[in-house]
Amino acid sequence: MYTPTPEDRFTFGLWTVGWQARDPFGDATRAALDPVESVHRLAELGAYGVTFHDDDLLAVESDRATAIESFKKALAETGLKVPMATTNLFTHPVFKDGGFTSNDREVRRYAIRKVIRNIDLAAELGAKTYVCWGGREGAESEAAKDVQAALARYKEAMDILCQYVIDKGYDIRFALEPKPNEPRGDILLPTIGHALALIGELEHPEMVGLNPEVGHEQMAGMNFAHGIAQALWHGKLFHIDLNGQNGIKYDQDLVFGHGDVKNAFFLVDLLENGGYDGPRHFDYKPLRTEDSEDVWVSAAANMRTYLILKDKVAKFHADPEVQEARAASLVPDLSLPTLGEGESLDQLLAEQSDPEELAKRGFHFTRLNQLALEHLMGVR
Ligand code: GCO
Ligand code: MN
Ligand code: MN
Repeated sequence: MYTPTPEDRFTFGLWTVGWQARDPFGDATRAALDPVESVHRLAELGAYGVTFHDDDLLAVESDRATAIESFKKALAETGLKVPMATTNLFTHPVFKDGGFTSNDREVRRYAIRKVIRNIDLAAELGAKTYVCWGGREGAESEAAKDVQAALARYKEAMDILCQYVIDKGYDIRFALEPKPNEPRGDILLPTIGHALALIGELEHPEMVGLNPEVGHEQMAGMNFAHGIAQALWHGKLFHIDLNGQNGIKYDQDLVFGHGDVKNAFFLVDLLENGGYDGPRHFDYKPLRTEDSEDVWVSAAANMRTYLILKDKVAKFHADPEVQEARAASLVPDLSLPTLGEGESLDQLLAEQSDPEELAKRGFHFTRLNQLALEHLMGVR
């Protein structure tokens, strides 16, 4: 019942299972993983697809053509798809002050070339989404970065990339991935809201949406489910990075659900019932303590947790007591327009309300929350 199949459209970044667990304080604890092995192992576990950074494919073999050929062969053998690709604009020291927004113009020009080179490969592999995570686009000191100029350069880069995709006739849309900090002290486009605002300023806003990540909003104290609801409302949830995070601290990239599980429950509700039809993409890091077999246990855990939550969400909505409690809490009433159809503002203004009377009404939200928790805890 909780066994994933490709119909569930679960996808993983090559860099997730392939993470060797190098952190700022310690060396790698696991050997490098050949992308070909990752493709086979993920397919065996029931995944639908894999995603990659340009550099993920080249880590094992220095010969780019050979690396791409063996990756394509593994995809053909397993049937795994590549719905998304992205560029590494953060590991190489050249990007220490960013890619699109580096103060060094030559670095900015190099970054655009690096992205375009991988967009061609993404298109060839059938990817429909191209993620831009600007992990190094930011600063540690306000003295060092002209933020307004940086935003202008961010827009310029996205405009150039959109035009490139149009000129080439590729069926690709971009998805910006917000993050508040780490590795930079402060990163540009720190939240879903900041990124949405930038998109509105682009030449082709219809081609650019979001790839929000659970932990990135939660490390800023934001409610991820609320952020996803807003992204959906704007029609901008192009892709998603699912993982787990325990509150405001460094980016933990835990297994999905291994952080704030209640928020994960309501997130799955939104993804299943809120109009999202993209892949369920996991961007997590297997714990540094884990060995090379544990990696696959953690990969499977992401998908199993999602399917369990999906089942719990369905049971929550089907529960007559929940339906009654939602009605008692007036949850469905929020969908009613405040002015009725054909009603004029004058009619509203002519009405009288007694605020003292209205204020007596309780909303009974605690009961509803408890019902959700009881479904989540498996006692209903
Ligand atoms: C992070 C980021 C990255 C990006 C990925 C795509 O954990 O800080 O999520 O994992 O998503 O590198 O560029
Ligand atoms: Mn991510
Ligand atoms: Mn992350």
